[in-house]
Amino acid sequence: MIYRILGKTGLKVSVLGMGCSGIGKGLYSNDDDESLKTLYEAFEAGINFFDTAPNYSNGDSERLIGRALKNKRDEIIIAGKVGITFTTVGKLAKKIKPFLSPVKSILLPAKNNLPNLYRSQRRNNFSKEFIIKTVEGSLKRLQTDYLDLLLLHHPTNQILETGDFCETFELLKTQGKIRFYGVSCDSVEQALLSLKLNGVSSIQIELNMLDKDPIKEILPIAIKSNIGIIARLPLAKGLLIDQAHDTKAEKWAYDRELFQERKTKADSSKFLIKGNRSLAQAALQFLFNLEGLSVAITGFNNRKHLKENLKSLSVVPLTNDELRKIYSI
Ligand SMILES: NC(=O)c1ccc[n+]([C@@H]2O[C@H](COP(=O)([O-])OP(=O)(O)OC[C@H]3O[C@@H](n4cnc5c(N)ncnc54)[C@H](OP(=O)(O)O)[C@@H]3O)[C@@H](O)[C@H]2O)c1
Repeated sequence: MIYRILGKTGLKVSVLGMGCSGIGKGLYSNDDDESLKTLYEAFEAGINFFDTAPNYSNGDSERLIGRALKNKRDEIIIAGKVGITFTTVGKLAKKIKPFLSPVKSILLPAKNNLPNLYRSQRRNNFSKEFIIKTVEGSLKRLQTDYLDLLLLHHPTNQILETGDFCETFELLKTQGKIRFYGVSCDSVEQALLSLKLNGVSSIQIELNMLDKDPIKEILPIAIKSNIGIIARLPLAKGLLIDQAHDTKAEKWAYDRELFQERKTKADSSKFLIKGNRSLAQAALQFLFNLEGLSVAITGFNNRKHLKENLKSLSVVPLTNDELRKIYSI
């Protein structure tokens, strides 16, 4: 495993991290046993960065991390999030989701509407009371008394302009409930706003071979300000794999036209499949090559994908010519 320092937090993080939104009982996930084994084997292989949130699988993601790794607490880095809540309808839908899993193929048309339903029921809450209560809940589910990193989840530009959440995050820091904090940004614009906030020591942003804007616009500033960058969606929600069909990207696409455009771009990256190197491994290598990037949180919920992703650290490296082609897509 390769380790990097996460900006001014000084935390030593594995360059391949585990994004844990897909573990736990969701419409698309597998059983708890496989998730627990995947978490444990990821840790054994040197992965020490686990990204989660209270809304992932209705808290199951945090519960599973707690169950699998509570005895390794001081050897792992847990990044949690706060800021999202759901309407009563949204909460109910999340509760019944696991029970729909066995009949998901029959629900195909309804399944296509899920992303829009999910978004329409999602709300922000950045109040002090909500932040404190949510973090307490996360700590319980994770079976720990602190988060290494707390990220503001799905922020608005306005909250980043005022920085109003920082006071509560500082309070949690003083209480020892979090060690560092940052922002999980939804755009380059939000990352630029977050970079101006004093207490922020890390930023999470969508960054992969299809979404390269942060490379020019964020990484140079982050390096200068010593802000740790976490790349999310390193496989573009499953588009950057050899046989990409029925991917998370497709299931969660709310704009079909944009999805098709991205799929075409992903398909034109297939020249990177070479010898024993898969497209997923090339996509991860591309990120590992970036100066200023600390960790790429890859979403996987089984040991087969874990194994393949780990091999990205050792398969044939990308050539300069291949890198040039990636930038031209
Ligand atoms: N706003 C936010 O803060 C936010 C938003 C989105 C995501 N995130 C974080 O970012 C993480 C990553 O996002 P993501 O999971 O949506 O996107 P991703 O990592 O780009 O893609 C994950 C998809 O790729 C598949 N996959 C992984 N490794 C593979 C392999 N070797 N071969 C074939 N398929 C493979 C996974 O399948 P399996 O699951 O079946 O293994 C999953 O469907 C999340 O887990 C979460 O922690 C944060």
